[in-house]
Amino acid sequence: MIKQQLTFPKDFWWGSAWSAEQAEGFGETGKAETVWERWYKEQPYRFYQGVSSAITTDHIHRYKEDVQLMKQTGHNSFRVSISWARMFPNDGIGEANPKAIAFYRDLFQEMNANGIKIFANLYHFDMPAALQDIGGWESRVVVDAYVHFADTCFREFGDLVFHWFTFNEPLGPILGSYLEDFHYPNLIDFKRGAQAAFFTVLAHAKAIAAFKQYGYASKIGTILNLSPTFPRSQHPADVEAAEIADLFYTRSFLDPMVKGTFPEKLVALLKEYDQMPEDYTLEDLSEIKNNTCQILGLNYYEPRRVKARLTAINPSGPFLPDWFFEHHTMPGRRMNEYRGWEIYEKGIHDLCMDIKENYGNIEAFISENGMGVADEERFMDEAGQVNDTYRIEYIQDHLAYLWKAIKDGCNIKGYHLWTFIDCWSWINAYKNRYGLVALDLETQERRIKKSGEFYKQLSDNNGFSY
Ligand code: BG6
Repeated sequence: MIKQQLTFPKDFWWGSAWSAEQAEGFGETGKAETVWERWYKEQPYRFYQGVSSAITTDHIHRYKEDVQLMKQTGHNSFRVSISWARMFPNDGIGEANPKAIAFYRDLFQEMNANGIKIFANLYHFDMPAALQDIGGWESRVVVDAYVHFADTCFREFGDLVFHWFTFNEPLGPILGSYLEDFHYPNLIDFKRGAQAAFFTVLAHAKAIAAFKQYGYASKIGTILNLSPTFPRSQHPADVEAAEIADLFYTRSFLDPMVKGTFPEKLVALLKEYDQMPEDYTLEDLSEIKNNTCQILGLNYYEPRRVKARLTAINPSGPFLPDWFFEHHTMPGRRMNEYRGWEIYEKGIHDLCMDIKENYGNIEAFISENGMGVADEERFMDEAGQVNDTYRIEYIQDHLAYLWKAIKDGCNIKGYHLWTFIDCWSWINAYKNRYGLVALDLETQERRIKKSGEFYKQLSDNNGFSY
Protein backbone atom coordinates (compact mmCIF):
# COMPACT_ATOMS: atom_id res chain seq x y z
CA MET A 1 0.00 0.00 0.00
CA ILE A 2 1.39 3.41 -0.96
CA LYS A 3 1.73 5.70 2.02
CA GLN A 4 1.19 9.44 2.01
CA GLN A 5 2.92 12.03 4.19
CA LEU A 6 0.28 13.92 6.19
CA THR A 7 1.72 17.31 7.15
CA PHE A 8 -0.09 19.62 9.55
CA PRO A 9 -0.19 23.43 9.45
CA LYS A 10 2.84 25.36 10.68
CA ASP A 11 3.05 25.82 14.47
CA PHE A 12 0.49 23.10 15.09
CA TRP A 13 -0.01 22.49 18.82
CA TRP A 14 1.15 18.98 19.72
CA GLY A 15 0.55 18.07 23.31
CA SER A 16 -1.61 16.38 25.87
CA ALA A 17 -3.77 17.22 28.86
CA TRP A 18 -4.47 16.27 32.44
CA SER A 19 -5.92 17.87 35.53
CA ALA A 20 -4.89 18.94 39.03
CA GLU A 21 -6.95 16.44 41.01
CA GLN A 22 -5.77 13.59 38.78
CA ALA A 23 -2.05 14.30 38.81
CA GLU A 24 -0.76 16.74 41.39
CA GLY A 25 -1.04 14.93 44.70
CA PHE A 26 -1.63 16.79 47.95
CA GLY A 27 1.77 18.45 48.48
CA GLU A 28 2.61 20.97 51.19
CA THR A 29 0.88 24.11 49.95
CA GLY A 30 -2.34 23.50 51.87
CA LYS A 31 -5.53 22.68 50.00
CA ALA A 32 -9.26 22.60 50.72
CA GLU A 33 -11.10 19.29 50.59
CA THR A 34 -12.60 18.64 47.14
CA VAL A 35 -15.80 16.77 46.35
CA TRP A 36 -13.68 13.78 45.31
CA GLU A 37 -11.95 13.56 48.69
CA ARG A 38 -15.30 14.01 50.41
CA TRP A 39 -17.02 11.33 48.35
CA TYR A 40 -14.13 8.92 48.92
CA LYS A 41 -14.48 9.40 52.69
CA GLU A 42 -18.19 8.62 52.45
CA GLN A 43 -18.18 5.80 49.87
CA PRO A 44 -14.66 4.45 49.13
CA TYR A 45 -16.19 1.38 47.51
CA ARG A 46 -17.43 3.51 44.62
CA PHE A 47 -13.83 3.95 43.42
CA TYR A 48 -12.07 1.26 41.37
CA GLN A 49 -10.08 -0.98 43.74
CA GLY A 50 -10.83 1.55 46.50
CA VAL A 51 -8.15 3.95 45.22
CA SER A 52 -8.59 7.69 45.85
CA SER A 53 -6.95 10.79 44.39
CA ALA A 54 -4.50 10.67 47.31
CA ILE A 55 -2.55 8.21 45.15
CA THR A 56 -1.43 10.22 42.16
CA THR A 57 1.41 10.93 39.80
CA ASP A 58 2.87 13.22 42.51
CA HIS A 59 3.40 15.93 39.93
CA ILE A 60 3.62 18.60 42.62
CA HIS A 61 7.01 17.23 43.66
CA ARG A 62 8.15 15.96 40.27
CA TYR A 63 7.13 18.72 37.91
CA LYS A 64 10.68 19.48 36.75
CA GLU A 65 11.25 15.86 35.75
CA ASP A 66 7.80 15.84 34.15
CA VAL A 67 8.51 18.92 32.05
CA GLN A 68 11.61 17.15 30.69
CA LEU A 69 9.42 14.16 29.87
CA MET A 70 7.03 16.47 28.02
CA LYS A 71 9.95 17.58 25.87
CA GLN A 72 11.11 14.03 25.29
CA THR A 73 7.65 13.09 24.09
CA GLY A 74 7.40 15.99 21.65
CA HIS A 75 5.13 18.38 23.54
CA ASN A 76 5.14 21.98 22.38
CA SER A 77 2.00 22.63 24.48
CA PHE A 78 0.27 21.10 27.48
CA ARG A 79 -3.03 21.56 29.34
CA VAL A 80 -2.97 21.76 33.11
CA SER A 81 -5.82 22.66 35.38
CA ILE A 82 -5.34 25.05 38.27
CA SER A 83 -6.81 23.68 41.47
CA TRP A 84 -9.42 26.00 42.98
CA ALA A 85 -9.06 24.13 46.28
CA ARG A 86 -5.29 24.73 46.34
CA MET A 87 -5.58 28.38 45.30
CA PHE A 88 -8.21 29.01 48.00
CA PRO A 89 -7.50 26.50 50.79
CA ASN A 90 -10.10 28.08 53.10
CA ASP A 91 -13.13 26.37 51.61
CA GLY A 92 -12.54 27.78 48.12
CA ILE A 93 -13.04 31.44 49.15
CA GLY A 94 -11.24 34.29 50.93
CA GLU A 95 -7.53 35.03 50.52
CA ALA A 96 -5.51 33.36 47.76
CA ASN A 97 -2.79 30.94 48.87
CA PRO A 98 0.72 32.35 48.27
CA LYS A 99 2.22 28.84 48.28
CA ALA A 100 -0.18 27.71 45.55
CA ILE A 101 0.62 30.80 43.50
CA ALA A 102 4.34 30.08 43.90
CA PHE A 103 3.85 26.44 42.81
CA TYR A 104 1.94 27.30 39.66
CA ARG A 105 4.28 30.15 38.75
CA ASP A 106 7.29 27.83 39.11
CA LEU A 107 5.62 25.14 37.02
CA PHE A 108 4.58 27.60 34.32
CA GLN A 109 8.03 29.22 34.18
CA GLU A 110 9.60 25.79 33.85
CA MET A 111 7.23 24.93 30.99
CA ASN A 112 7.83 28.21 29.17
CA ALA A 113 11.60 27.88 29.60
CA ASN A 114 11.34 24.52 27.86
CA GLY A 115 9.24 25.78 24.97
CA ILE A 116 5.93 24.31 26.16
CA LYS A 117 2.90 26.56 25.71
CA ILE A 118 0.55 26.58 28.70
CA PHE A 119 -3.13 25.86 28.18
CA ALA A 120 -4.61 26.64 31.59
CA ASN A 121 -7.99 25.25 32.54
CA LEU A 122 -9.84 26.61 35.56
CA TYR A 123 -12.19 23.76 36.42
CA HIS A 124 -11.88 20.04 35.91
CA PHE A 125 -14.61 18.49 38.09
CA ASP A 126 -12.85 19.58 41.34
CA MET A 127 -15.33 21.65 43.33
CA PRO A 128 -14.21 22.52 46.88
CA ALA A 129 -16.47 20.37 49.10
CA ALA A 130 -17.53 23.30 51.31
CA LEU A 131 -18.91 25.06 48.24
CA GLN A 132 -20.79 21.93 47.23
CA ASP A 133 -22.33 21.98 50.70
CA ILE A 134 -23.97 25.32 49.89
CA GLY A 135 -25.33 24.05 46.57
CA GLY A 136 -22.35 23.81 44.22
CA TRP A 137 -23.27 25.02 40.75
CA GLU A 138 -26.87 25.50 41.89
CA SER A 139 -25.73 28.51 43.93
CA ARG A 140 -25.03 32.09 42.80
CA VAL A 141 -22.62 32.39 45.72
CA VAL A 142 -20.53 29.63 44.14
CA VAL A 143 -20.66 31.37 40.75
CA ASP A 144 -19.22 34.51 42.37
CA ALA A 145 -16.56 32.49 44.24
CA TYR A 146 -15.54 30.86 40.95
CA VAL A 147 -15.27 34.23 39.22
CA HIS A 148 -13.10 35.50 42.09
CA PHE A 149 -10.86 32.41 41.72
CA ALA A 150 -10.70 32.85 37.92
CA ASP A 151 -9.89 36.55 38.22
CA THR A 152 -7.10 35.77 40.70
CA CYS A 153 -5.60 33.28 38.22
CA PHE A 154 -5.79 35.79 35.36
CA ARG A 155 -3.97 38.35 37.51
CA GLU A 156 -1.31 36.00 38.94
CA PHE A 157 -0.54 33.87 35.88
CA GLY A 158 -1.71 35.93 32.89
CA ASP A 159 1.86 36.82 31.88
CA LEU A 160 2.76 33.12 31.57
CA VAL A 161 -0.31 31.39 30.12
CA PHE A 162 -0.80 30.89 26.37
CA HIS A 163 -4.58 30.24 26.33
CA TRP A 164 -7.25 29.97 29.02
CA PHE A 165 -10.23 27.67 29.46
CA THR A 166 -13.12 28.18 31.85
CA PHE A 167 -14.21 24.52 32.16
CA ASN A 168 -13.35 21.02 31.07
CA GLU A 169 -16.45 19.08 30.01
CA PRO A 170 -19.05 21.09 31.97
CA LEU A 171 -21.66 18.52 30.97
CA GLY A 172 -19.81 15.80 32.93
CA PRO A 173 -20.63 16.95 36.47
CA ILE A 174 -24.23 17.72 35.45
CA LEU A 175 -24.75 14.26 34.00
CA GLY A 176 -22.90 12.55 36.83
CA SER A 177 -24.46 14.52 39.69
CA TYR A 178 -28.03 14.95 38.52
CA LEU A 179 -28.86 12.32 35.92
CA GLU A 180 -26.60 9.27 36.10
CA ASP A 181 -24.99 8.89 39.54
CA PHE A 182 -21.24 9.00 38.89
CA HIS A 183 -20.34 12.34 40.45
CA TYR A 184 -20.82 13.71 43.97
CA PRO A 185 -23.40 14.55 45.34
CA ASN A 186 -25.23 11.94 43.23
CA LEU A 187 -28.75 13.31 43.09
CA ILE A 188 -31.20 12.30 40.43
CA ASP A 189 -33.04 15.52 39.70
CA PHE A 190 -33.12 16.97 36.18
CA LYS A 191 -34.55 20.35 37.15
CA ARG A 192 -31.82 21.00 39.71
CA GLY A 193 -29.33 19.84 37.07
CA ALA A 194 -30.74 22.40 34.64
CA GLN A 195 -30.18 25.10 37.25
CA ALA A 196 -26.60 23.93 37.82
CA ALA A 197 -25.99 23.85 34.05
CA PHE A 198 -27.38 27.39 33.68
CA PHE A 199 -25.16 28.73 36.45
CA THR A 200 -22.14 26.91 34.96
CA VAL A 201 -22.75 28.77 31.69
CA LEU A 202 -23.19 32.01 33.64
CA ALA A 203 -19.92 31.42 35.54
CA HIS A 204 -18.17 30.84 32.21
CA ALA A 205 -19.52 34.12 30.81
CA LYS A 206 -18.64 36.11 33.93
CA ALA A 207 -15.10 34.68 33.94
CA ILE A 208 -14.70 35.75 30.30
CA ALA A 209 -15.92 39.24 31.20
CA ALA A 210 -13.30 39.40 33.98
CA PHE A 211 -10.59 38.15 31.61
CA LYS A 212 -11.32 40.86 29.06
CA GLN A 213 -10.49 43.55 31.62
CA TYR A 214 -6.81 42.57 31.50
CA GLY A 215 -6.27 43.04 27.77
CA TYR A 216 -3.96 40.02 27.47
CA ALA A 217 -2.96 38.80 24.00
CA SER A 218 -4.02 35.25 24.98
CA LYS A 219 -7.49 33.91 24.24
CA ILE A 220 -10.11 32.36 26.48
CA GLY A 221 -12.63 29.66 25.74
CA THR A 222 -13.89 26.38 27.04
CA ILE A 223 -13.41 22.64 26.51
CA LEU A 224 -16.42 20.51 25.61
CA ASN A 225 -16.84 16.76 25.23
CA LEU A 226 -18.71 16.43 21.95
CA SER A 227 -19.89 13.32 20.19
CA PRO A 228 -21.46 13.60 16.75
CA THR A 229 -24.91 12.05 17.05
CA PHE A 230 -26.19 9.52 14.53
CA PRO A 231 -29.70 8.01 14.23
CA ARG A 232 -29.88 4.24 13.85
CA SER A 233 -31.77 4.68 10.58
CA GLN A 234 -33.36 7.41 8.46
CA HIS A 235 -36.79 6.50 9.85
CA PRO A 236 -38.31 9.80 11.06
CA ALA A 237 -38.67 8.46 14.62
CA ASP A 238 -34.95 7.60 14.80
CA VAL A 239 -34.00 10.92 13.24
CA GLU A 240 -36.10 12.81 15.77
CA ALA A 241 -34.60 10.77 18.61
CA ALA A 242 -31.11 11.72 17.42
CA GLU A 243 -32.07 15.37 17.19
CA ILE A 244 -33.30 15.42 20.79
CA ALA A 245 -30.23 13.56 22.10
CA ASP A 246 -28.05 16.07 20.26
CA LEU A 247 -29.88 18.98 21.90
CA PHE A 248 -29.35 17.60 25.40
CA TYR A 249 -25.78 16.39 25.06
CA THR A 250 -24.18 18.62 22.42
CA ARG A 251 -26.03 21.91 21.89
CA SER A 252 -26.85 22.45 25.61
CA PHE A 253 -23.38 23.90 26.35
CA LEU A 254 -22.01 24.47 22.86
CA ASP A 255 -24.69 26.99 21.83
CA PRO A 256 -24.65 29.26 24.89
CA MET A 257 -20.88 29.12 25.36
CA VAL A 258 -20.00 29.77 21.71
CA LYS A 259 -23.05 31.61 20.30
CA GLY A 260 -24.35 33.15 23.51
CA THR A 261 -27.86 31.70 23.19
CA PHE A 262 -29.62 28.51 24.27
CA PRO A 263 -31.20 26.30 21.58
CA GLU A 264 -34.85 27.29 21.18
CA LYS A 265 -36.04 23.72 20.76
CA LEU A 266 -34.34 22.61 23.96
CA VAL A 267 -35.85 25.51 25.89
CA ALA A 268 -39.32 24.71 24.47
CA LEU A 269 -38.96 21.08 25.51
CA LEU A 270 -37.86 21.94 29.04
CA LYS A 271 -40.80 24.35 29.34
CA GLU A 272 -43.23 21.70 28.13
CA TYR A 273 -42.03 19.27 30.80
CA ASP A 274 -41.66 21.92 33.52
CA GLN A 275 -37.90 21.42 33.79
CA MET A 276 -36.65 24.99 33.32
CA PRO A 277 -34.26 26.40 35.94
CA GLU A 278 -36.10 28.60 38.45
CA ASP A 279 -33.43 31.26 38.88
CA TYR A 280 -32.41 33.18 35.76
CA THR A 281 -32.64 36.86 34.88
CA LEU A 282 -32.50 39.00 31.74
CA GLU A 283 -29.21 40.37 33.03
CA ASP A 284 -27.78 36.82 33.19
CA LEU A 285 -28.89 36.19 29.60
CA SER A 286 -27.22 39.34 28.35
CA GLU A 287 -24.00 38.46 30.26
CA ILE A 288 -24.04 35.09 28.47
CA LYS A 289 -24.78 36.72 25.11
CA ASN A 290 -21.90 39.20 25.45
CA ASN A 291 -19.17 36.90 26.71
CA THR A 292 -18.63 33.93 24.44
CA CYS A 293 -15.64 31.73 23.59
CA GLN A 294 -12.69 33.08 21.63
CA ILE A 295 -11.27 29.58 21.23
CA LEU A 296 -12.80 26.13 21.63
CA GLY A 297 -11.36 22.81 22.84
CA LEU A 298 -13.01 19.67 21.46
CA ASN A 299 -12.75 16.44 23.44
CA TYR A 300 -13.60 13.57 21.14
CA TYR A 301 -13.72 9.92 22.18
CA GLU A 302 -16.75 8.28 20.59
CA PRO A 303 -19.83 8.88 18.45
CA ARG A 304 -23.32 8.88 19.95
CA ARG A 305 -25.77 6.51 18.27
CA VAL A 306 -29.44 6.59 19.15
CA LYS A 307 -32.78 5.17 18.14
CA ALA A 308 -36.39 5.93 18.86
CA ARG A 309 -37.53 4.75 22.28
CA LEU A 310 -39.26 1.39 21.93
CA THR A 311 -39.68 0.37 25.53
CA ALA A 312 -42.10 2.39 27.60
CA ILE A 313 -40.75 4.66 30.32
CA ASN A 314 -42.28 4.95 33.74
CA PRO A 315 -44.01 8.36 33.62
CA SER A 316 -44.02 8.64 37.39
CA GLY A 317 -40.23 8.15 37.49
CA PRO A 318 -37.81 11.10 37.32
CA PHE A 319 -37.67 13.15 34.11
CA LEU A 320 -34.56 12.17 32.09
CA PRO A 321 -33.34 12.91 28.55
CA ASP A 322 -33.66 9.26 27.64
CA TRP A 323 -37.42 9.53 27.92
CA PHE A 324 -37.03 10.55 24.27
CA PHE A 325 -34.51 8.06 22.85
CA GLU A 326 -32.52 4.92 23.49
CA HIS A 327 -28.79 4.50 23.08
CA HIS A 328 -27.88 2.21 20.25
CA THR A 329 -24.80 0.07 19.62
CA MET A 330 -24.15 -0.50 15.96
CA PRO A 331 -23.36 -4.15 15.33
CA GLY A 332 -19.91 -4.96 14.00
CA ARG A 333 -18.30 -1.69 15.07
CA ARG A 334 -14.79 -1.60 16.57
CA MET A 335 -14.98 -1.02 20.31
CA ASN A 336 -12.56 -0.04 23.01
CA GLU A 337 -13.63 -3.00 25.12
CA TYR A 338 -12.09 -1.60 28.34
CA ARG A 339 -14.22 1.50 28.23
CA GLY A 340 -17.16 0.27 26.19
CA TRP A 341 -16.66 3.10 23.69
CA GLU A 342 -16.95 2.70 19.94
CA ILE A 343 -13.78 3.64 18.07
CA TYR A 344 -14.94 5.74 15.13
CA GLU A 345 -12.14 7.90 13.82
CA LYS A 346 -14.27 9.60 11.16
CA GLY A 347 -16.27 11.19 14.01
CA ILE A 348 -13.43 13.65 14.59
CA HIS A 349 -13.94 14.95 11.04
CA ASP A 350 -17.71 15.18 11.47
CA LEU A 351 -17.29 17.10 14.70
CA CYS A 352 -14.85 19.62 13.18
CA MET A 353 -17.18 20.15 10.20
CA ASP A 354 -20.07 20.86 12.57
CA ILE A 355 -17.98 23.56 14.28
CA LYS A 356 -16.99 24.99 10.90
CA GLU A 357 -20.51 25.04 9.50
CA ASN A 358 -22.56 25.98 12.56
CA TYR A 359 -20.24 27.92 14.88
CA GLY A 360 -18.53 30.43 12.60
CA ASN A 361 -15.44 28.24 12.17
CA ILE A 362 -14.18 29.46 15.55
CA GLU A 363 -10.50 28.72 16.25
CA ALA A 364 -10.48 25.24 17.76
CA PHE A 365 -8.28 22.28 18.60
CA ILE A 366 -8.71 18.70 19.71
CA SER A 367 -8.26 19.05 23.44
CA GLU A 368 -8.68 15.34 24.29
CA ASN A 369 -8.73 12.10 22.35
CA GLY A 370 -7.20 8.90 23.56
CA MET A 371 -7.36 5.25 24.32
CA GLY A 372 -7.62 3.80 27.82
CA VAL A 373 -6.39 0.22 28.13
CA ALA A 374 -6.44 -2.02 31.20
CA ASP A 375 -3.46 -4.07 32.41
CA GLU A 376 -0.95 -2.56 30.05
CA GLU A 377 1.90 -4.49 31.73
CA ARG A 378 0.80 -7.26 29.35
CA PHE A 379 2.32 -5.31 26.52
CA MET A 380 5.72 -4.69 28.14
CA ASP A 381 8.70 -5.89 26.16
CA GLU A 382 11.73 -7.55 27.72
CA ALA A 383 13.35 -4.20 28.38
CA GLY A 384 10.29 -3.10 30.35
CA GLN A 385 8.83 -0.68 27.80
CA VAL A 386 5.09 -0.72 27.07
CA ASN A 387 4.76 -1.54 23.37
CA ASP A 388 1.38 0.13 22.78
CA THR A 389 1.06 -0.17 19.02
CA TYR A 390 -2.75 -0.04 19.43
CA ARG A 391 -2.43 3.51 20.82
CA ILE A 392 -0.14 4.60 17.97
CA GLU A 393 -2.67 3.26 15.45
CA TYR A 394 -5.54 4.93 17.30
CA ILE A 395 -3.74 8.30 17.20
CA GLN A 396 -2.81 7.92 13.52
CA ASP A 397 -6.32 6.91 12.47
CA HIS A 398 -7.82 9.94 14.21
CA LEU A 399 -5.14 12.30 12.96
CA ALA A 400 -5.71 11.21 9.36
CA TYR A 401 -9.33 12.41 9.67
CA LEU A 402 -8.25 15.55 11.49
CA TRP A 403 -5.85 16.29 8.65
CA LYS A 404 -8.73 15.86 6.21
CA ALA A 405 -10.88 18.24 8.27
CA ILE A 406 -8.16 20.89 8.04
CA LYS A 407 -7.94 20.32 4.27
CA ASP A 408 -11.72 20.79 4.20
CA GLY A 409 -11.33 24.23 5.75
CA CYS A 410 -11.73 23.61 9.49
CA ASN A 411 -9.91 26.11 11.71
CA ILE A 412 -8.07 23.48 13.78
CA LYS A 413 -4.87 24.57 15.47
CA GLY A 414 -3.72 21.52 17.40
CA TYR A 415 -4.14 18.07 18.86
CA HIS A 416 -3.86 17.14 22.53
CA LEU A 417 -3.97 13.56 23.64
CA TRP A 418 -5.46 12.25 26.84
CA THR A 419 -2.97 11.85 28.50
CA PHE A 420 0.69 12.50 29.30
CA ILE A 421 1.66 10.16 32.19
CA ASP A 422 -0.83 7.47 33.31
CA CYS A 423 -2.97 9.22 35.90
CA TRP A 424 -5.80 8.67 38.37
CA SER A 425 -9.22 8.87 36.75
CA TRP A 426 -12.18 9.57 39.07
CA ILE A 427 -14.23 6.47 39.86
CA ASN A 428 -12.14 4.43 37.39
CA ALA A 429 -8.96 5.31 39.36
CA TYR A 430 -6.08 3.45 37.61
CA LYS A 431 -8.22 0.89 35.79
CA ASN A 432 -7.46 2.17 32.29
CA ARG A 433 -4.10 3.63 31.37
CA TYR A 434 -4.09 6.42 28.78
CA GLY A 435 -0.55 7.85 29.01
CA LEU A 436 2.33 8.31 26.60
CA VAL A 437 4.40 7.60 29.68
CA ALA A 438 3.86 4.59 31.96
CA LEU A 439 3.73 5.08 35.71
CA ASP A 440 4.85 2.55 38.29
CA LEU A 441 2.59 3.46 41.20
CA GLU A 442 4.82 1.83 43.81
CA THR A 443 8.05 3.59 42.84
CA GLN A 444 6.66 6.59 40.93
CA GLU A 445 9.08 5.64 38.16
CA ARG A 446 8.10 7.03 34.76
CA ARG A 447 8.92 5.21 31.55
CA ILE A 448 8.16 6.46 28.03
CA LYS A 449 5.95 4.04 26.08
CA LYS A 450 6.37 3.30 22.37
CA SER A 451 3.55 5.77 21.77
CA GLY A 452 5.61 8.46 23.54
CA GLU A 453 8.47 7.85 21.10
CA PHE A 454 6.02 7.98 18.20
CA TYR A 455 4.58 11.24 19.53
CA LYS A 456 8.03 12.85 19.56
CA GLN A 457 8.60 11.94 15.89
CA LEU A 458 5.12 13.12 15.02
CA SER A 459 5.78 16.51 16.59
CA ASP A 460 9.31 16.84 15.20
CA ASN A 461 8.06 16.05 11.68
CA ASN A 462 4.79 17.96 12.15
CA GLY A 463 3.06 14.96 10.62
CA PHE A 464 3.46 11.30 9.79
CA SER A 465 3.36 8.86 6.94
CA TYR A 466 0.02 7.06 6.66
C1 BG6 B 1 -12.09 12.63 29.99
C2 BG6 B 1 -11.87 13.48 31.23
O1 BG6 B 1 -13.35 12.81 29.48
O2 BG6 B 1 -11.94 11.24 30.19
C3 BG6 B 1 -10.68 12.99 32.04
O3 BG6 B 1 -11.70 14.84 30.90
C4 BG6 B 1 -10.75 11.49 32.23
O4 BG6 B 1 -10.62 13.68 33.25
C5 BG6 B 1 -10.77 10.81 30.86
O5 BG6 B 1 -9.69 11.01 33.02
C6 BG6 B 1 -10.76 9.28 30.93
O6 BG6 B 1 -11.80 8.82 31.72
P1 BG6 B 1 -11.93 7.28 32.17
O7 BG6 B 1 -13.15 7.25 32.99
O8 BG6 B 1 -12.02 6.46 30.94
O9 BG6 B 1 -10.70 6.94 32.94
